[in-house]
Parts: sequence; structure tokens; C-alpha cells
Amino acid sequence: MIQEWRLDDGQQTLVLAARRGRLPECVYWGAALPAREDLGTLLAAHGIDVTGGMLDENPDLSLCPEAVRSFPGQPGLILRDTDSTPLLPKFCFAEAREEDHALYLTYRDDDARLGLTFGFVADPETHVITCDTTLTADRPVHLHWLAAPVLPAPQLSDEMIDVSGRWCGEFQLARTPWSAGMRYRENRTGRTGHEHFPGLIIPTRGTTNCSGEAYAFHYGWSGGHRMLAEELPDGRRQVQFGHAARMETAPGTEFRTAPLYITYSNAGLNGCAVAFQRHTRDRIVQMPRPDRPRPVHYNCWEAVYFDHKLPVLQDIATRAAALGAERFVLDDGWFGTRDDDTRSLSDWTVDPRKYPDGLTPLIDHVHSLGMSFGLWFEPEMINPDSDIHRAHPDWALGSEDQTLGRQQKALNMALPEVRDFLYDRMSAILSAHAIDYIKWDHNRVLPMPDAAQTRGSYALIDRLRADFPLVEIESCASGGGRIDLGILRRTHRVWLSDSNDALERLRIQHDAALFLPASVTGSHVGPRHCHTSGRVIDISMRAWVAAQRHMGFEMDPRELTDHEAAVLTEVTGWWKANRGWMMRADILRLDSADPAVIAEQQLARDGSRFVTFAGKAATSAQIAPRPLRLTGLDPAATYRVDLINRATAPNLSRGKPALKQGPLVLSGAYLMGHGVTLPWHFPETMWVLEGTRL
Ligand code: DGJ
Repeated sequence: MIQEWRLDDGQQTLVLAARRGRLPECVYWGAALPAREDLGTLLAAHGIDVTGGMLDENPDLSLCPEAVRSFPGQPGLILRDTDSTPLLPKFCFAEAREEDHALYLTYRDDDARLGLTFGFVADPETHVITCDTTLTADRPVHLHWLAAPVLPAPQLSDEMIDVSGRWCGEFQLARTPWSAGMRYRENRTGRTGHEHFPGLIIPTRGTTNCSGEAYAFHYGWSGGHRMLAEELPDGRRQVQFGHAARMETAPGTEFRTAPLYITYSNAGLNGCAVAFQRHTRDRIVQMPRPDRPRPVHYNCWEAVYFDHKLPVLQDIATRAAALGAERFVLDDGWFGTRDDDTRSLSDWTVDPRKYPDGLTPLIDHVHSLGMSFGLWFEPEMINPDSDIHRAHPDWALGSEDQTLGRQQKALNMALPEVRDFLYDRMSAILSAHAIDYIKWDHNRVLPMPDAAQTRGSYALIDRLRADFPLVEIESCASGGGRIDLGILRRTHRVWLSDSNDALERLRIQHDAALFLPASVTGSHVGPRHCHTSGRVIDISMRAWVAAQRHMGFEMDPRELTDHEAAVLTEVTGWWKANRGWMMRADILRLDSADPAVIAEQQLARDGSRFVTFAGKAATSAQIAPRPLRLTGLDPAATYRVDLINRATAPNLSRGKPALKQGPLVLSGAYLMGHGVTLPWHFPETMWVLEGTRL
């Protein structure tokens, strides 16, 4: 018996096929195949030869490689019966359900009394395929590892790119050459983490941002994932993603992986980036008021920290509004007796010493300025020095003698009474005030990974979202420690990094754009003297870097000189004038000929306009700027390009490059084939080039 199925989204085709009722293999994933392709022939053509030193038949690299079938690599499932006996199932076909752009395949092992279902949903608009695996058992079993559908990796690929990072240094791309054996990433911190963003990109040889093929993966789960990319002894390659191993701490009868999002591109890394950006923005994030423009954000954290004084905050709000802010977020320090980070987490009542009349006077003032109001919480956390910990020490997760993180423990979110308590406290505050935004923080790792904890957090957010549907939520975890499509299904913005250093931010944003759209990526203009790096960066650079994403401010506006306030007001005005199309644009990373220049192009969905940001992150090796090639344009069309901040060229730019004099009209072919020649500039500056299709 041969079975085959295909999924198409107009850009990519995925073909699954199986013999003898066994688990299917992905026998093709890549550029769209003709409709007439014979899938049976494809299955036959896919098979590799056998020679000395090999088994008589190559074990299938199936959607869940089975240990019991002599599979020479990591299995897709590791499971024990309640008496701890390892279970080694052999699944047989049970049923297939095909729907428009969707496919569900179910398999059973009647002896082991287990079922396995694979789900695939293609999206012809975003070109992201969403897939997952579900395991069922007729009695509780212990799950050690369950992979989302296992896919082959291309052979014409020399390396893989995955993502690591740290506090203030999120989204660092790690390139690892393929070799025999595996690249294994496992995040056992219990949250998505700065260190292990759950993404993988496999470029084929020679792929750049703008050209070539790439395959990309993202696992949408906030509790810590496991990824392995393995080259088998016969040369085949497999990619597995799932929850971190042994994260299901209790036996169960049904386990489901998080969704694995995959996409294939023949338009370079940008093809994958655009698919993920669009899918995140248009399918995952559910904005409460989609028609409302993304508001310019103000966050008071780096202005006042824990030192909350009503007149000062009112003054800051007034100044922020004058600069163009439309939302004011009151950060940590408003509750309990929270004068520093040693106490009060979980005591979610307004501090009467700082706010004798409650939050209303501040909220009213913020509203009178035309801004909306947001409030910080860190719901999953508890300080040992808090009333709630004194009353309910058993609500904390982990042992009594655990090492604290930022002087705090995590609450056990699997306990319904903990979730009810948090819901009651948070909903009381949301009901009593006109608050339409929560900054939801999560500042420590868990004592151990536990899927029930992540499910508990999701349940609390879902309940609050259901009852306060107009409240937006920002996902923060010491900056970008909880960014993934699992949390973004429930939230609306991410605090990408605690680094407000524009130079660091430029790089972090650039690499995060492989997965994240501008509309959800918060970016703030920080203090002149950066609090996390010590650098002093000019206001123009700080403002333009924030203007690349969802713009905000996070400095004390009282420190601004008149010049700084004027620049910031102007750039904010520019951002407001352009956010309507920019927040829906594709972010395309440019292949910069100068490693000192980090450049991107934001291209409107209809191709009618674009803006290019060329950030000079360091001093260039060569003396004259190298032309910067644009991308994604129509070669036959002409474009008017204009350097909108040419007035910032320094005196040391002595020549007369054309863009310094005025706008130019050039073909898409020239702009993409030769590139724009920008004027000379200092390091730590940004050129901003607008383009309009004529
Ligand atoms: C960590 C966050 O990343 C900061 O932005 C700020 O909200 C602090 N927590 C507050 O404690």
C-alpha cells in the first residue's frame, strides 16, 4: 500500500508519503511542484541506495522516527508505561482527513494502545505551514519526549542558523556547520529565555538575505524547547522541535506539541522573514482594536525606577505628551511597599504611601493629555518578603532552599488557587481604573521546566483577555526573555530588550526581524547616557532606531536639551505620519557591502513606497561608503528616492554625492543591481532614505 498527500500554498509544496501503512515521511519540501507531479513516483525517486555496511533497507525518516525500526538517529517519541517500562510503539495507519489546505493523519499501535496524530495547515497568504503532533494513550503514560512533525533538512546546505542571546543582547545568530551527529539545543529554564529563542533557519549554499533558498522553523511555546538538527550516518538530515524533554511531570493520556511553524523561501532569508512577520502580525497577534494606529509609547522605568512621586510623574507625562507620546506606562514600583527589587511582588495593591489617592490622579492626568494608560505587573512572581508569601509559602514553585533570581521565586501557576488569586487582584485593578495596557514581566527562570507552569500562565492570560478584551498586553521578561508565537497569540507587543542602547538595539532589531514584524516589536528612545551600556549616543541615532519599530520613549524627558527635544519631536512626527503603512510593511534585511553598516528596507505591501534605514554601527574599514543595494523592487519601475535627513551630514562630508543634493529618480534595476551611494557619515548615525514608485 502506498499513500501520499500534498500541501501547497502557491510558494511551497510539502509531500508526505508512506508504504505499508507506516508513518509517513516528508519526501519533498521546497519550491512549488507542478500539479501533475506523480507523488508515487516521487516516493520511489526519494529512496536512497543501500551498500555495504548498511541495513538491507533504509529506515524511514518519518514524521516521528520510531526507535524500534532501527532508526539510526534520535527518535521522535520517548515514552514509558506507568510501571516505567519503555514503550516502543510501531504505528500503523488509521485515518486521513483532508480539508482545504489542511491535513490530519492518525496512526495507532493497538498493542501499545497508543495513537498518534499529525496536523498540517498551510496558509496561501502568509506561506507559513503550521503543524503539530498529538499522542493519545488509553491509560496514563509518562512522556519524556514528543517531537512536532519531524522534517528533513536540505543536503545542499553547509550550515544552520539558530538563535542564542543574553540579557541586553537578544537574538544573536549562531551559525553551525553541518557535520555527522547533531546540533542539540535544549532550554531548561522554563521560559522562552534570552538564551534560546526557538527558531532555526537552514540556508542552502550561497544564500544571503536577498537571494537563495532557506528553510525556517519556529516552535511556538513559552516554556522552553528542545531542538535537534541531526545528520544521520547515511547523510540524511532531520530537524526535530518539541517541548524541553521531561517537561511533562505527570503521567497523562493526551499530549500535544506546541505548533511548529515552518516556511520555505527562494527569496533568501528575507523570504522566511517576511512569511514569519506576516503570519505573526496577521494570524497570531489579535489586536483588540486593529484599526487603531499603534500609539507612541512612553515608559517611565528608566526615568524614575522605584522612586514614584505623583507630581514628578505628572510632569514627565506632560513632557512625554508634548514630544508626541500617546500612551503612558507606569512601570514597576506602584504596589505593596516596592521601593526596590527585594520585596512586594504578588502584593498587587496600590502603595498608599506613594499614591494616597490611588492611581486615579495620575491616570486622570495622563488622560487629560490625550494619552492612554498602561500598568506593569509581574504576575508569575513572588518575593519571599511579601504579605502573600508570608500567608501562602506553599504557593511558590521549587524548594525552600532554592537559589532566588532577582530576590524572587516563581508562583506555582499550575495551582488553580494561585491563578484565581492573581486573576482577582489584577481584575480588581483593571476594573477600578481606565487601564488599557499591561506590561507583563517575568524576570527569573524557573527552578525547573514544567509544562503545567506554562499552561497555567496561558490560562491566566486567556482569562484576563476574555474579561478585558480591550486591554493590550506587552510580553516582557527582563527584556526579550519571553518572545515566541505561543505568548504572542495572547499578547500584542514584545519588549525586545532591556538595552536602550541604540547601537545594540539596531543589531538586535535587525536579527529579530527574521521572525518579528515591526508592529509588535517595541523600541524606545533611551537616556542620552545609556543605563545598560554606559554609551552616550546622539539623539538622532536614538530616535531613528526607535522609529524602525513600534516607537516609544523611555528616558526622563526632563534631561532633554531643546535640540534633543526638537529632533525627537520631528522624528516622532515622521513616524506617526508613516506608521499607517510601515506597521504593515515587510522588513527586508539588506545585504550590506560594508560590515559596519546594518541596513534594512521596509517595503509597503503594495510595493508603492519604501524606507531604507542604513545604520552605521561602527567605523568603516574603507574610506568611502560602498553602494547599498536595495531589494524587492520592480526592476522595470522607476522610483524617486530621497535622503530625508541629509541635513545631518557632517562637515567632514566634503563632496557632492547626488543624494546629498536632492532626490533622484532611478530604476528598480539600478537600485537593486548597483545600489544607492550614500554620503559619508560618522559612525553611530543613521541615513534614512524614502522611496516612492512613480
Ligand atoms: C525588567 C524589564 O525588562 C524592565 O523593562 C522593567 O520593567 C523592570 N523589569 C522592572 O522591574
